[in-house]
Amino acid sequence: MTPETPAADPIGVFDSGLGGLSVLRALRRQLPQAPLRYLADSANAPYGDRSEAFIVERSQRIAQHLVAHGAKLLVVACNTATAAAVASLRERWPALPIVGVEPGLKPAATATHSGRIGVLATTGTLRSEKFRQLLARQGDAVRITAQPCPGLADLIERGALDTPELRAMVERCCAPLREADVDTVVLGCTHYPFVQHLIAAAMGPQVLIIDTADAVARRAAQLWQATEAAPAAADVVTLETTGDVESLRRVAASWLSFRCEVRAADA
Ligand code: DGL
Repeated sequence: MTPETPAADPIGVFDSGLGGLSVLRALRRQLPQAPLRYLADSANAPYGDRSEAFIVERSQRIAQHLVAHGAKLLVVACNTATAAAVASLRERWPALPIVGVEPGLKPAATATHSGRIGVLATTGTLRSEKFRQLLARQGDAVRITAQPCPGLADLIERGALDTPELRAMVERCCAPLREADVDTVVLGCTHYPFVQHLIAAAMGPQVLIIDTADAVARRAAQLWQATEAAPAAADVVTLETTGDVESLRRVAASWLSFRCEVRAADA
């Protein structure tokens, strides 16, 4: 089969690995015609325990690759990379619209009845200055329990979404949030929506789970409509990886419901 030529002027989307596919599928729902080009930096995942300098360097490199392939809008589909690198990307490409993701503390503060909110995220996101500022903006009306989940994104990267190991890890991450008696849990890493079923089971049916993928996709759609990208109707989404092409192909087939062309990335 001949590989298809990626559509021109895409929305460039990237993550440390497969987690950003949760944002990509929301983008596809929001903008079914828009050309999408996704890069999974799986050779370097997870970013959660990496240094800020490393994440900035990788984000710059990947954004450069997507811009070189015509991206007219960039979506940083990774909380950890947004916290570490979005400012440096905006500085380097001031005219390029860039959408980042951050833990949905604001929607959680609106939704909570008890005022007790839990956040699941990577160590990198939770120790970032950006997260500290986000917390400070919530004020005293809510009590926030932030739980780092080292290793969770890595297990999800392996592609199997219901293994005993994954259940045990989710249980360990959720236990402190149950103890804190939160009624709302924020998914502060784009990998975690893929195990939302396990998080919901660990937290119980009364707990609300907040994922910001749809809100991010709506924001990206607004900005996309304002760009001067050539009109296109893309029926295939381009997925690239710095890691193993076959495993991305398998994951795309089981996690996504639209047609994808999977290729190796030279980023
Ligand atoms: N998916 C990423 C996030 O939203 C990062 C996971 C990781 O690479 O540690 O934070």
